[in-house]
Amino acid sequence: MSTAFDLLETETLRLKQIYVDKNKKSAEAFENNKKSGIAGGTNRASIHWTPFPLTFVEAHGAEATTADGQVVTDFLGNYTAGLFGFSPEPVQRAVSQAMERGHALGGAANLEESKVAGYFTERFPSIDMIRFSNTGTEANSYAIHTARAVTGKNKILMYDGAYHGAWIHGSHKEAALDTPYQKIIVPYGDIDQIMRAMDENAHDLAAIIIEPVMVNPMVYLKRVAPRAYLQKIRDKCSEIGCALIIDEVMTSRLSPGGAQELVGIEADITTVGKYFGGGFPFGAFGGKEYWMSRHDPSHPETINSGGTFNQNALCLAATRSVLEELWSPDKCVEHNLRGDRFRNDINNLSKKHAVPCQACGTGSLMTLIWQNQDVTGQVDEDSAFHQLNFVPNKAVFKATELFWFHMMIHHDLLAGSPKLNYLTLPTPLQQVDYDNFLLGMEDFFQCFHDVLKVLASET
Ligand SMILES: Cc1ncc(COP(=O)(O)O)c(C=O)c1O
Repeated sequence: MSTAFDLLETETLRLKQIYVDKNKKSAEAFENNKKSGIAGGTNRASIHWTPFPLTFVEAHGAEATTADGQVVTDFLGNYTAGLFGFSPEPVQRAVSQAMERGHALGGAANLEESKVAGYFTERFPSIDMIRFSNTGTEANSYAIHTARAVTGKNKILMYDGAYHGAWIHGSHKEAALDTPYQKIIVPYGDIDQIMRAMDENAHDLAAIIIEPVMVNPMVYLKRVAPRAYLQKIRDKCSEIGCALIIDEVMTSRLSPGGAQELVGIEADITTVGKYFGGGFPFGAFGGKEYWMSRHDPSHPETINSGGTFNQNALCLAATRSVLEELWSPDKCVEHNLRGDRFRNDINNLSKKHAVPCQACGTGSLMTLIWQNQDVTGQVDEDSAFHQLNFVPNKAVFKATELFWFHMMIHHDLLAGSPKLNYLTLPTPLQQVDYDNFLLGMEDFFQCFHDVLKVLASET
């Protein structure tokens, strides 16, 4: 008898062949990348997928045109960085105006810096002082090194499977690109183990770095961690004198003051990035004076931090326009409520068709997990313990792939990526787009009902 994996594999191969036939120009662009000397044909291997990625030639709002002329509606949102869709007009305008004033103002200060800083210190109660960078990876690197300098300690505690940037991974195995920090790796969710690890390493623990909504450990489940759990970590950091770094590169979009506001705890150092640049490179880290004053050049023990493009006037003009025009606190709240409704609609549809698909997440961040048993498992607010029940079964990943190709080929929709149905909703999506997604999904459930039934019995 065929397993769910065999059935899904056959159907995925069929759809992939249609994709290959329909996207010859994207295939050619990928080959040209390889021929031109780009290693593996991609500059972003972590999100690369086979047989080849789509190439976009034009994109506005929620829609992009592929090299082969298909117009697709985007539910991926560039892994959270594309929150305002493609080519947002306020950003274009702000950057054009900055260009007219002269775009290479390097080597001197510019007038955008204080405006952008002011917005962050106003919105994030835990940030009194801030520094800019160009990426989230840099922001986290700066934050970690700041914690090490201020505490005089070395070790960093992070979750198993966490991703805090191109060279900051939570893993027991040494990854080739990883910064060789002295890392302590703990499982997500088990507060007793985390407390033990913090106590045992108290004398040399500089920082713990976490996301308050677990986006990155495991499978991008995006569920808010219980408050009691985060509060215990917060209290232990204060007790043993290590920095609580909250990585809000993705999660800050969940509430006007970031996910820490949603949960009600404050970081020592907060990092942000991605969407705040409105499509331009941006990152930042900030906190109270105690942690940040070492960046002051007049401090007797200044860290003397640099970064050629940290004050880039074009990137900061783009970020200012995001904060002024695209992401008011009201818009943030409204967009996340929209996301909650969409997630409920997906879960109701799955229930109606009795298929093993769960939309997990918070607000405008969600992932579809193709398994039957409850993914988010047991949450015990009192003991602050919470558990994940993800089934790392290859059929679960195969269903992810099949769904993406189905939505792309038959409904002109980008449902995350073939590796991860990761829906980080862009703001330009309209009601009709959400309706189309649900119609496409219902069609998928009907087309693959028998396959999904077998998957349900195996997960
Ligand atoms: C939680 C988190 N932190 C940091 C980063 C790194 O940001 P960047 O890719 O801008 O360096 C990412 C990127 O995906 C991320 O998800």
